[in-house]
Amino acid sequence: MLEKKSVVIAGGGSTYTAGIVMMLIENQDKFPLKTLKFYDNDYDRQKIVADACEIIVRERAPEIEFISTTDPEEAFSDVDFVMAHIRVGGLPMRAMDEKIPLKHGVVGQETCGPGGIAYGMRSIPGVIELVDYMEKYSPDAWMLNYSNPASIVAEATRILKPNSKIINICDMPVAIKKGIADIIGLEDGNDIIDRYYGLNHFGWWTEMLDKEGNDLMPQIKEHVAKWGYGPAGEANDNPLLEEASWMDTFLKAKDIYAVDPETLPNTYLKYYLFPDEIAAHSNPDFTRADEVMANREKNVFAECRRIATEGTAENTTIEAGEHAEFIVQLAGALAYNTYERMLLIVENNGAIANVPNDAMVEVPCLVSKRGYEPLAMGNIPYFQKGMIEQQVAVEKLVVAAYLDKSYQKLLQAITLSKTVPNATIARAILDDLVEANKDYWPTLN
Ligand code: NAD
Ligand code: G6P
Ligand code: MN
Repeated sequence: MLEKKSVVIAGGGSTYTAGIVMMLIENQDKFPLKTLKFYDNDYDRQKIVADACEIIVRERAPEIEFISTTDPEEAFSDVDFVMAHIRVGGLPMRAMDEKIPLKHGVVGQETCGPGGIAYGMRSIPGVIELVDYMEKYSPDAWMLNYSNPASIVAEATRILKPNSKIINICDMPVAIKKGIADIIGLEDGNDIIDRYYGLNHFGWWTEMLDKEGNDLMPQIKEHVAKWGYGPAGEANDNPLLEEASWMDTFLKAKDIYAVDPETLPNTYLKYYLFPDEIAAHSNPDFTRADEVMANREKNVFAECRRIATEGTAENTTIEAGEHAEFIVQLAGALAYNTYERMLLIVENNGAIANVPNDAMVEVPCLVSKRGYEPLAMGNIPYFQKGMIEQQVAVEKLVVAAYLDKSYQKLLQAITLSKTVPNATIARAILDDLVEANKDYWPTLN
């Protein structure tokens, strides 16, 4: 019998919360729960999701105690895990992160380039506050953090909370592997055993094997060279507007791959390798944030309200995808010592031999009760090393700018980003971002 655990989801009002709840419920045999709590600093938003999830829990796993609260002490006391996915400033500020750089002809993206830098400056204090609550009320707990931009947040926690039990994670590699599994006819992306190195949203695979140790790379590369990570055929006219931008991204992997056919790329590299092309093809009046508000947010909240009104979730459309699977699997590995192999964002300390020790890198780790042990990926080629070191410097400058309240360092961070053509444009973007973020950023000097 596995010992029951207690979990608080921080960012209870997130569009991803209900999916994680479904996954937790489906995993009661592998990860049994005593208490499930929601925490958010927006009562009304969290209530929409909580009212539905309370019904889901009552119908499917009534043995789990369910609590939804905006009180940090109630939320963070007596928990084993904090699953964090907050968005400081919400989707309206994400829209600003995307639209302001685009106005200057630069990539407008949630985690990459100036938008990701702006979001990082907002996220750092929000995530650090969650760590403080955890350490005060449940000092033995683990925080599993999805809150973006994960790279910058990870660097901030490395500096500000060096001894904290926080693991920063990303679902993109898992989602790509799931896509690849579908393409090559493997049942489960988890059955791909990989070697990968890089930063969050900035990495490359060097190896993918099946469970018997057979090399899957030649078959995958043949597909990626033609179709990227998209399905074979003219899948570009996907009828779902909601998914069209993601389909573009998966198809674009073809062009990223062509830059280095030795490896398989993370999809986010498109923003660094084709920044002007991506910016030119973006609509500055309707960005991904608008798309998410019009689709995912609207649909999830409508479904939650429907469940609350009907008083049952019997035929709910809420699903637990690989995003939820990954965080629940990670919690299970830490709780029950499974030694599963997962990509995590951790301090390098030699995992990538020729990249600085103090970079926060994304590499495969073995996960057990002791925490995580990064695997050694060895030396990497000049191309990736050069790109990584430039991006590490950007991320370190952002955190330094936050800590020193330094306009100059933030200007350097934006100027150094491979997505930004020159220092004049960097300054113009920064000045607009300062204005837009005045309720969130420290006052810069
Ligand atoms: P969302 O805006 O729907 O939800 C975020 C919630 O966080 C909101 O309910 C908001 O009220 C709450 N919140 C904001 N600031 C808070 C604070 N300081 N304390 C407590 N709660 C706070 O956002 P979403 O689209 O569901 O995404 C949630 C987060 O997960 C984002 O940061 C997103 O980038 C991230 N995410 C990361 C990955 C990854 O790969 N790492 C994958 C998916 C989503
Ligand atoms: C992927 C990335 C996340 C990012 C998300 C954005 O899952 O790994 O880091 O937050 O995509 O998705 P969205 O649908 O909100 O644009
Ligand atoms: Mn991610």
